[in-house]
Amino acid sequence: MERTLIKNLHEQQGNTITIKAWIDVARDQGKMAFFDLRDVTGKVQGVVFGKPEILEIAKTLRPEWVVAITGIVNERNDKSAKEFKAEVKSTGVRDTFVKDVEIEITDIEILNEAATPTFEITESTEGINEEVRLKNRYLDLRTGRMQDNLKMRHKVAKLCRDYLDQNGFFEIETPIFTKSTPEGARDFVVPSRLSPHQFYALPQSPQQYKQLLMSSGMERYFQFARCMRDEDLRGDRQPEFTQLDMEVSFTSEEEIMRINEELLIKIVTELYPEKRIQQVPFPRITYAEAMEKYGNDRPDIREDKNDPNLLAFCWVVDFPFFEKTADSDDPQAQGEWTFTHNPFSLSKPEHIENLKQAKNIGDIVAAQYDIVLNGYEIGGGSIRAHDPEVLRSILRILGHADEKIEANFGHMLRALGSGTPPHGGIAWGFDRLMMILQNEATIREVIAFPKNGEGRDPLMDSPSGISDAQLDELGLGLKKKA
Ligand code: AMO
Repeated sequence: MERTLIKNLHEQQGNTITIKAWIDVARDQGKMAFFDLRDVTGKVQGVVFGKPEILEIAKTLRPEWVVAITGIVNERNDKSAKEFKAEVKSTGVRDTFVKDVEIEITDIEILNEAATPTFEITESTEGINEEVRLKNRYLDLRTGRMQDNLKMRHKVAKLCRDYLDQNGFFEIETPIFTKSTPEGARDFVVPSRLSPHQFYALPQSPQQYKQLLMSSGMERYFQFARCMRDEDLRGDRQPEFTQLDMEVSFTSEEEIMRINEELLIKIVTELYPEKRIQQVPFPRITYAEAMEKYGNDRPDIREDKNDPNLLAFCWVVDFPFFEKTADSDDPQAQGEWTFTHNPFSLSKPEHIENLKQAKNIGDIVAAQYDIVLNGYEIGGGSIRAHDPEVLRSILRILGHADEKIEANFGHMLRALGSGTPPHGGIAWGFDRLMMILQNEATIREVIAFPKNGEGRDPLMDSPSGISDAQLDELGLGLKKKA
């Protein structure tokens, strides 16, 4: 028989149907057996009575076994059923544990048995050791909270895709095997077999490629981009994370901020109606003001920090373009000056002459905007230098010698000089946004298969060694560990 999803059972009252599901809970009551059955769409109660041969099979079932259950859909009229029906009537929302119907089981087919799970599959594994959860992630992801996190992540991503599509953006993939692009962190590198002793760098962001797409005349680009950065990990930092990345030609700071503000408001009003945005339009705070008033450049401006449903967005603007290297944690910084955000940015229009002539460097303000939510930097972007001479001047200020500029950035200079429109963009830390929307404490909770605090995946046990044969093929040898 064709499968019915649990969420659709109420449309089948009186009918005989088959569901395919996991045993969530099994309760043996002698002459009867009760089950909570779970599929990706919800949970429902099933009951066996008056059928000795089915009861015999029912009594063998254990949590997490996978079954095909055939039975009659009966209306429930007990107390919790009445409460459920009243809730549906008043809110129109059907909770995932459907209680207006139950299944009177007439047949059970066991599709797969399950070893006793390492921990119980409950609504939340909050109390379980995280290493154990990550090692058994496929079990962890069966819990109500984690399923909700993944489903909402999908819904937010889909809303973004639809919105950007309707606004003339094209979703374009860019390479994962690429060349080092300076975003201020260390690169992860991949050795090449075909070009021995040479390495690809994994992208810290698609920054250069998205600008090259503006040179290519695509005008409006976006991508859910995987980014890799070798930096110390924290609750809001993973070595591999996802950006919602976008770039727009013929644009302005105002336009990028408007598009992003509109999209963020749409996400909250359509998918998180229980949440309240503190202030619309999002307030704008200058970098100087943020440092002075809050002591950091990602101020938490919530009026009430105990309210889990309060979203206090703000823009931080007017960042200094450069800072002295002594203040920088950029491992690639070698000159006297380093960039605070992005070497490809433009300054505010009134500072472009200073940028070109390398004058009053410390006072140059970047056309850079960060979007901050509840004290987390959830995104950042800028208007870019589209004049190759401006980019060359920036790279010189950063201490790059002319031969190095040609070797590392020649392609960008040539692309800008080929007829590149003025452009700018932004990238969101998509994991961070989802963490806050889902009221989670770390981004690991909104990523299906994250790395642990040491950058390891306890499930796959990676990273791991490779064979001598693989090393030979790559022309590599390993030094003794220090
Ligand atoms: P930036 O480096 O600010 O900008 O990154 C954009 C956003 O990505 C998030 N983020 C991270 N999230 C999880 N783990 C990490 N390790 C991590 N690092 C950064 C943050 C951050 O705001 N190319 C530019 C964007 C642009 O100018 O368009 C860039 O990557 O939320």
